[in-house]
Amino acid sequence: MGESMLGLKRSHYCTQVNESLIGQEVVVMGWVLKRRNLGSLIFIDLRDRTGILQIVFDEKDLNANDFSKVESLRSEFVIAVKGLVRNRESINPNLATGMIEVVAKELRILSEAETPPFAIEEGSSVKEDLRLKYRYLDLRRPDLQRNLMLRHKVAQSVRKFLDSEGFLEIETPMLARSTPEGARDYLVPSRIHKGSFYALPQSPQTFKQLLMVSGFDKYFQIVKCFRDEDLRADRQPEFTQIDMELSFVDVDDVIDVNERLLKTVFKEALGIDIPLPIPRLTYQEAMDRFGSDKPDIRFGLELVDISDVVQDCGFKVFEEAIANGGSVRGINAKNCANFSRKQIDALVEVGKTYGAKGIAWLAIGEDGTIKSTFTKFLSEEICQEIIKAMDGQKGDLLLFCADKNSVVYDALGNLRLEIAKRLNLINKNEYSFVWVTEFPLLEWDEEENRYVAKHHPFTMPMDEDIELLNTDPGKVRAKAYDICLNGVELGGGSIRIYRKDIQEKMFNALGFTKEAAYENFGFLLNAFKYGVPPHGGLAYGFDRMIMLMTQADSIRDVIAFPKVKDASCPMTDAPGKVTEQQLDELGLKLDENNE
Ligand code: AMO
Ligand code: AMP
Repeated sequence: MGESMLGLKRSHYCTQVNESLIGQEVVVMGWVLKRRNLGSLIFIDLRDRTGILQIVFDEKDLNANDFSKVESLRSEFVIAVKGLVRNRESINPNLATGMIEVVAKELRILSEAETPPFAIEEGSSVKEDLRLKYRYLDLRRPDLQRNLMLRHKVAQSVRKFLDSEGFLEIETPMLARSTPEGARDYLVPSRIHKGSFYALPQSPQTFKQLLMVSGFDKYFQIVKCFRDEDLRADRQPEFTQIDMELSFVDVDDVIDVNERLLKTVFKEALGIDIPLPIPRLTYQEAMDRFGSDKPDIRFGLELVDISDVVQDCGFKVFEEAIANGGSVRGINAKNCANFSRKQIDALVEVGKTYGAKGIAWLAIGEDGTIKSTFTKFLSEEICQEIIKAMDGQKGDLLLFCADKNSVVYDALGNLRLEIAKRLNLINKNEYSFVWVTEFPLLEWDEEENRYVAKHHPFTMPMDEDIELLNTDPGKVRAKAYDICLNGVELGGGSIRIYRKDIQEKMFNALGFTKEAAYENFGFLLNAFKYGVPPHGGLAYGFDRMIMLMTQADSIRDVIAFPKVKDASCPMTDAPGKVTEQQLDELGLKLDENNE
């Protein structure tokens, strides 16, 4: 910014002006946050990205023309002020610059502003749709500025760490073919090859594996990924991954470098010490204890399997669930026996939203009396055995679900979170990481009536389970791992299949013919014929990481220009219609319903 254009050259950001500059002249520039008019004195709070600085305009220091300019200032005008730094009479302890102020000698109005559609203030309660329509104003709010600055800091910290570990940052194409992550693709029609489409990458998965074939050894990228899925608070159609791949590694090597990455980044960005090693749970243990493959381990309330105790208990609901291959499990909500009927019913409803047909409960009063929905069906002896298995004490409320395992896990896993919220068991300032390992390799898809890859079709089975691929594919565990933080899946990855015989077994189990496999991933499979190192990697959801670091409620609060629930952008109105000519050039025709 030369003097010629502005007439003044900025000397300091707002919060760089401090007591060491008292008596000196400074030039600051920014937006008018507030104006207070005390007759011959006018105070302005000036805002830039660093914070707020108080400017005083004194009628006696300025000529009449300049003072009337000050009187015309309104919120969000952009101004430049030259003035002297001095001690403030009334100190403001809430401001970083609260000890000083700048007495203006000169004012320039660089641009005027209309009244903004909402006030630019921290923690705005204005509806998000309106804020997103005027996102450039919304982004002036200090909380969003802080979030994006932290995002920048984390990105730099990640780059520095991975560089120091010998990772190379290499870009991969955005105009690509379908990638194997399993969500719906965003397609881009080709003008030159009419009727053909590029797919925007759901991840750089295939490319990063090819970079390993090329011998780059360690790759990373902070990269946009695109998935056409239903949006939620922690999901966007385009989002950013911190993506990496390493050669000549097994599970422990990937975990090791990532633990050090997380430790470094959390220390540098937040000053938080993450104790290493990060605890690990196998998938099965995570499900059995927490009912979730992304367990929040900041609190207890663990699930207990009481199937053995109740398999012949006389209560049909329990017996049948077990006979059908399911289970009966419970949670001990400590000291909640005094919950009202209404409160308990609300908990039962939570279980039902997640698929439970019912939630049976048992409350042990302070005097030892038992209230329950199902003990009338049981002998006193079995009732006592259940209480013992659940470690039930006076004052406890025990909640049970009987069903097939997937329903029991989901219902109780979510009930567990709900109870923790109600009992205020969650410490918001705690960062509890956990690795979940040994995921199932395959998952049965009821609709397609076949196995599908739980992670993706290039994920390596565990050595000891490879043979099961032919005989009992559902039992095969994978060299796949997720890193979870406070109940959120922060990242995931796997060791990849690099052996042809195993890859063929995998395609077989997935019900792919060789032709179908080559049709989709031939370029990768061909590459593997020419010398492929054993390799594996991981990708973090970068937006999710920043969301957790800033304790934001939504991923949208850490993305400069996010999409709303229906995947549109209220500011640019994307997606938009295109002209007839554009469609012609692409060889596309809309059907009459969509014209
Ligand atoms: P995965 O599909 O598990 O793995 O994605 C990695 C991480 O990306 C984040 N994520 C999302 N964040 C915001 N919005 C979304 N729609 C979204 N989808 C995923 C999650 C997730 O843990 N190629 C593999 C990684 C590998 O195997 O190396 C992959 O993409 O935090
Ligand atoms: P009923 O015999 O239908 O009155 O059920 C007795 C109790 O069992 C009620 O509290 C039901 O909510 C509960 N219940 C029903 N189905 C299940 C289930 N699948 N798991 C746990 N409890 C259930």
